[in-house]
Amino acid sequence: MREGETPVSKGTFITFEGGEGSGKTTLIGGLADRLQQAGYDVVTTREPGGSPIAESIRAVILERNHTAMDGRTEALLYAAARRQHLVEVVLPALARGAIVLCDRFIDSSLAYQGYARGLGMDEVWEINRFAVEGCMPAMTLYLDLEPEAGLARIRADAGREVNRLDLEGLAFHRKVRDGYREVARRYPERIVTLDAMQAPDDLLREAWLHLAAKLNETK
Ligand code: TYD
Repeated sequence: MREGETPVSKGTFITFEGGEGSGKTTLIGGLADRLQQAGYDVVTTREPGGSPIAESIRAVILERNHTAMDGRTEALLYAAARRQHLVEVVLPALARGAIVLCDRFIDSSLAYQGYARGLGMDEVWEINRFAVEGCMPAMTLYLDLEPEAGLARIRADAGREVNRLDLEGLAFHRKVRDGYREVARRYPERIVTLDAMQAPDDLLREAWLHLAAKLNETK
């Protein structure tokens, strides 16, 4: 499988990946603040969801009672939600020149559905290729963390909603991590791996260096 070739014009599309509790939300918030202070037009968004139709699809996927959901159905629903969010949120923002920071994108499907659920990365790539039509991120920051540490963090966060995937066992989350590492190996020119065990401020500093370099490069 190859990366899509159509570069996104004008704006810059950045995605964030990582297992449960890896700190994506906090990092995205910190980067968005810095970008806004520097005068950039910034849009922060997330998958699955991020638009009313995509949020409806998200509710179907993550519903706790949907334990009978077939793996391929799940993969197709994620791809459908991705498509809708791309068309409604990401592409219009990029067209006006914004920097889009998106919590999860295609690599989540490769790691969770392709690798951890065993559907095959190439197969999952194919349905997503159809969904994204070549619109790939300029850079992806992958927050790498031991699954034990990530799960301990989300258990400590009493306010966080618990969804169907959070209820998976440790073995599943270990596979997700292995999947992400495999994806990062496949796309070294796009994916930057960051150590998510470090303190949030250090993580923010490191991520900011990569982001600033990417923005200089794409100027
Ligand atoms: P969410 O509550 O948004 O989790 P997080 O805060 O960790 O991003 O739930 C999203 C869940 O969906 C998460 O467990 C990862 C999973 N997921 C996939 O399995 N495949 C995908 O393509 C995407 C986007 C998410």
